[in-house]
Amino acid sequence: MKILFYSPQDDAADYLRDLSNALPDAQFREWHPGDTAHADIAIVWQPVPDVFAGRDDLRAVFNLGAGVDAILALERAHPGTLPRHAQLVRLEDSGMGAQMIEYVTYAVLRYMRRFDRYDAQQTESRWQVVDAWPSATFTVGVLGMGVLGAQVAKALAQFGMPVRGFSRSAREIEGIETFHGEAQFNAFLDGVKVLVNLLPHTPDTRGVLNAQTFSALANGAYLINVARGAHLVEQDLLDALASGQLAAATLDVFHQEPLPATHPFWQHPHITVTPHSSARTLRAQAVQQIARKIDALSRGEPLSGVVDPTRGY
Ligand code: NAP
Ligand code: GLV
Repeated sequence: MKILFYSPQDDAADYLRDLSNALPDAQFREWHPGDTAHADIAIVWQPVPDVFAGRDDLRAVFNLGAGVDAILALERAHPGTLPRHAQLVRLEDSGMGAQMIEYVTYAVLRYMRRFDRYDAQQTESRWQVVDAWPSATFTVGVLGMGVLGAQVAKALAQFGMPVRGFSRSAREIEGIETFHGEAQFNAFLDGVKVLVNLLPHTPDTRGVLNAQTFSALANGAYLINVARGAHLVEQDLLDALASGQLAAATLDVFHQEPLPATHPFWQHPHITVTPHSSARTLRAQAVQQIARKIDALSRGEPLSGVVDPTRGY
């Protein structure tokens, strides 16, 4: 089996070594421009279209992350880019769930216990107790009840705050009040004090974090965006912070990454910026999961984590 690897963000040598150890009978190579030789499988992150040029022999494309928006955007921009017969398979958790729980829990508790206010007070050497938000009314709404969103919602519920979840189809998750579909969106948002975004970026979800959404939340709500920058209408966030409709935001993802040095988010007193690091792809776990699925594929077994391109995730 011949397997291509392409990721502008990773050290290919490390991946090729670990993948070869996991699947000693396969032949791995890094893709370089001009490589059109046969391959059965591609393992990629944010590929350029040429990776797939003339590759209708590919049986599967493994995405080195949970979100496949970059790959599907290629297909939208250049129809016919994706190999016609290949399954597109994304990472399912592979160590990202625990990281996402840590990141979002930290951000939610930071706001609930007012550490954001204490950070600001410390810059003025000001000693002043600020009442914590009572957990019983500090309602958290998690957009996206998939592999990551459901884990985050369950973890937060353990702190005693009411937790809601929103998905496309109906979900039942113990301890979480669930909502689904456009018709229930406003009921989901109503009274939410912290909105956490863990939706995939699709044509349906682009710009979902906008003025209308913010206006349906509790007054002085908090936003935590750990999904994609394209979900957020940036000016609407700045306006909602200026009006007080939102109190603060923690953002891990941006329209343009790296976030340009001149971007207003960097200096905003109520915005916390992290560099797309809430849940990183962990090489050992990713290799293990992909190798297991390649084995299953070669035995003709069905795979989990296969993306439905018409849904966009
Ligand atoms: P997932 O398992 O595919 O879950 C997606 C969830 O979103 C599902 O519950 C799905 O509903 C829901 N959904 C999709 N479209 C919707 C719509 N139009 N309306 C309402 N709900 C909708 O994805 P995941 O593995 O949890 O990952 C989620 C996203 O997190 C990824 O796509 C990626 O963008 C982001 N991410 C970011 C980082 C980071 O470091 N910042 C790391 C990993 C992932 P159904 O349950 O009905 O299908
Ligand atoms: C990271 O952003 C991912 O989608 O895995």
